[in-house]
Amino acid sequence: MSMTVRFRTLALAGVAAAAFGAGVSGAQAQGQLTVYCAVQEEWCRPMVDAFEKATGVKVAMTRKSSGEIYAQVKAEAANPRGDIWWGGTGDPHMQAAEEGLTEEYKSPKMADLNEWAVRQWEQSKGRTVGIYSGALGYGYNTKQLASKGLPEPKCWADLLNPKLKDEVQVADPNSSGTAYTMLATLVQIMGEDKAFDYMKKLHANVNQYTKSGAAPAKATSLGETTVGIAFLHDHVTMIVDGAPMKAVAPCEGTGYEIGSMSIIKGSKNLDNAKKWYDWALTPEAQGLAANARSYQVPSNKATPIPAQAPKLADIKLINYDFAKYGSSAERRRLLAKWDQEVKALPK
Ligand code: G6P
Repeated sequence: MSMTVRFRTLALAGVAAAAFGAGVSGAQAQGQLTVYCAVQEEWCRPMVDAFEKATGVKVAMTRKSSGEIYAQVKAEAANPRGDIWWGGTGDPHMQAAEEGLTEEYKSPKMADLNEWAVRQWEQSKGRTVGIYSGALGYGYNTKQLASKGLPEPKCWADLLNPKLKDEVQVADPNSSGTAYTMLATLVQIMGEDKAFDYMKKLHANVNQYTKSGAAPAKATSLGETTVGIAFLHDHVTMIVDGAPMKAVAPCEGTGYEIGSMSIIKGSKNLDNAKKWYDWALTPEAQGLAANARSYQVPSNKATPIPAQAPKLADIKLINYDFAKYGSSAERRRLLAKWDQEVKALPK
C-alpha cells in the first residue's frame, strides 16, 4: 500500500469515527423519555413521532387505560420506570397526585390554558394539568336498533329497557377512566343509592365490561353491540368513519372528563419529562389530535377546537366534582362497592 493510499484510508476512518462519535454524544445529550399514554393508540403514536422530531429525544411509549396506568405507577413507585403520564381521564391523575405518586410542576405555558385546565392543576396542588376535555354519553347502531324495532334512546333511563338485554357495552371502571366517569356521573345525578340500583339493573343489559373505555364505541360501529357507552368524541370518530351510528348526550344530564397529564415522581429523565409537558401544552402539539381523529376540546386557548368536537355548551353537563371523585378514598370506595354490588351479580 502506498503512503498516500494508507493516509487516505486512515483519514476516512478518522472522519467516520468523528461522525459516529458526534452522533452518539448527540443522542446521549438529548436522552430518552418513557411515556405512559392513555388516549387512543392512533393519537399516542403521532405525538411520540412529533416530539422525537422536535427535540431529538428518544421516546419509549406504552398505551394503557387510565386506571391501569394509575395502578402501574403505584406499583412502580419504589423504582419508577415511567417519566410522564400523558392523557386519560383526570380522576386517577388526581388520586395519584394526592398519594404523592406524581411531581409538582408549573409550566411556563400555564397562562395559555383554559380556566378548567388550570383549576385541575390548582386542585391537585400543581401535580396534574388539564390537556383536553370531553363529555360522556352513549352511541347506538342505527341498523341494529331498527332491526330490533326499538325506539331511539335519549336518556340514561332508556338503557334499562329489557329489550336491550345483552345489547349494552361499557368498560370496567377499575381499568377504564371512562367507565369510572360514568359511575361518578350517575352518583352525582341520581344520588348514590339510586345510581347503584341503576347500575345493577343495567348489568342485565351489559354484554361485556371491556378493559378500555373507547372499545364499546368501536363495537357499536361494527354492530357487535347495539349501544356502547363512551365519551361522545369517541362515537364521533366512528361516525366520521362512516359507521351507522348516532351519539346521544343523555337527557338527565351527563358528566365530563378533564383529560390530564402528570410527571411521575422519581422520573429518571426529569428534564425531558418537563420538555414533553411544556410541548404537549402548545397548540402545535394539541393540533395533532384532530389529525388522529380525536375530537376532544383542547386545553390551550389558541388550539383550534376541531369542527367535529361535540359542543359542550349544547350539552346538559353536570358540575362534576373532580376534587371529590378524584380523591383517593372516594375512588377506592366506589370501585370496591361496584365490584361487590354490580360486577359480582349473576347475569
Ligand atoms: C379515550 C378517549 C379519551 C379518554 C380515554 C380514557 O381514548 O378518547 O378522551 O381520556 O379514552 O381511556 P380509558 O380506557 O381509561 O377509559
